[in-house]
Amino acid sequence: MASAIPPPGTSDIFPAESWRWQRLEQTAAEVFGRYGFGELRTPIFEYTEVFQRGLGNETEVVQKEMYTFEDRGGRSLTLRPEGTAGVMRALLNTDVLNGVEQRVFYYGPMFRGERPAAGRKRQFHQVGVENVGRIAPELDAECIAMLMHFLDELKITGAELRINSRGVMADRGPAGELLRGYFSQHLDGMCADCRTRFENNLWRILDCKQPGCREIVAGAPDYFNAYSAESQRYFERVLQSLDALQVPYRVDRELVRGLDYYVHTVFEIVHTAGLGAQNAIAGGGRYELLLPEQSRPVQGVGFAAGIERLLLTQDALGAAGEPDRDRVIFLASLGEAARLENLKLAARLRHAGFNVALELEDKSMKAQMRVANRLGASAVLIRGDQEIASGVVAVKNMDGGGQSEVAIGGILDFLSQTFQ
Ligand code: HAM
Repeated sequence: MASAIPPPGTSDIFPAESWRWQRLEQTAAEVFGRYGFGELRTPIFEYTEVFQRGLGNETEVVQKEMYTFEDRGGRSLTLRPEGTAGVMRALLNTDVLNGVEQRVFYYGPMFRGERPAAGRKRQFHQVGVENVGRIAPELDAECIAMLMHFLDELKITGAELRINSRGVMADRGPAGELLRGYFSQHLDGMCADCRTRFENNLWRILDCKQPGCREIVAGAPDYFNAYSAESQRYFERVLQSLDALQVPYRVDRELVRGLDYYVHTVFEIVHTAGLGAQNAIAGGGRYELLLPEQSRPVQGVGFAAGIERLLLTQDALGAAGEPDRDRVIFLASLGEAARLENLKLAARLRHAGFNVALELEDKSMKAQMRVANRLGASAVLIRGDQEIASGVVAVKNMDGGGQSEVAIGGILDFLSQTFQ
């Protein structure tokens, strides 16, 4: 082993922290379950083309960030950089193509070769949902409201919802021309990246963070007016539904999102507490994917939230909560015979529902009491040769003090009455 430090942009999650992950995942399952979503688990790697086709070849993720490798069979595989493309691939195996709506959620690790920073990792984790097979602005609003509901349950307050419309593919021509005409007159003031974007990824100029570009973008014509009346109506109806659900939002024409599959609604949740520059805790929208061997594209709407960022935000808001503290019974053994008897007693108590800890190395009573204290044990059951010979257990109550002797035959009843 070269070092105890994991590769850049990855982390170990120890028990002192993992209870928070479990709770967050449980909250997600509960909230999303109320909206009819069930969990879908897809592979952590897919054929590379699933992401190339799904996210778009020109996107930064596909161009620069994917962990792609060839397996022993010569297949090109990629560690998933996000969940949507794999979920859509999986749903091909359901009756979504026969018009049956699918509501699924997922969580797990995602991989992007980005420059690590606070809140930006190479292996990060998302919790996400996809609602596939229906097209309705009310559905987009319901999806956003469900995300806000989830944040509420996590006690994440003060998040801002930014929302925009990407129109449909047919709108991109006229709206793109409007922007192209404007940006072509300002190329000199733009950063080098945006000059390249002007050629192959025009819309991403809108969310460039460089001050010079931001100034130019601020003066850009409102391309929304160039969308078809139908697309404009779709978006208005999303906003109307959000109003009806009392979900506050800010329409942001600079929000385009980094993945090519989006149509109509796109949104992002930002939170300024604790995250610095990486302040997007969740993002999503409506998307359209042309699946292999299908002539008709399939639409869905969904989002993904970064679990690390949700936890950091909870930290900053003092909303991390407390782990459930189950009572622990500690078994202290003096001598070999007692260790074997306690091993058996531990099994019996655990099967009866108690959390039991015991020291199985030959340690002094003092050392064993130290462990019991560190674990916050409610009771320590002590046995040596003498207790075994007389069929009793010495029970030390760590909460209220005091020590008593209990017959081994009645120990379960005694513990149930006193410590459960
Ligand atoms: P995304 O905006 O690329 O969207 O990622 C969603 C969230 O994942 C971000 O808002 C952020 O919280 C988290 N995230 C992304 N990259 C990193 C990173 N390197 N380190 C830590 N957290 C990160 C998607 O992935 C879409 N699949 C969302 C979606 C689902 N759209 C429709 N359905």
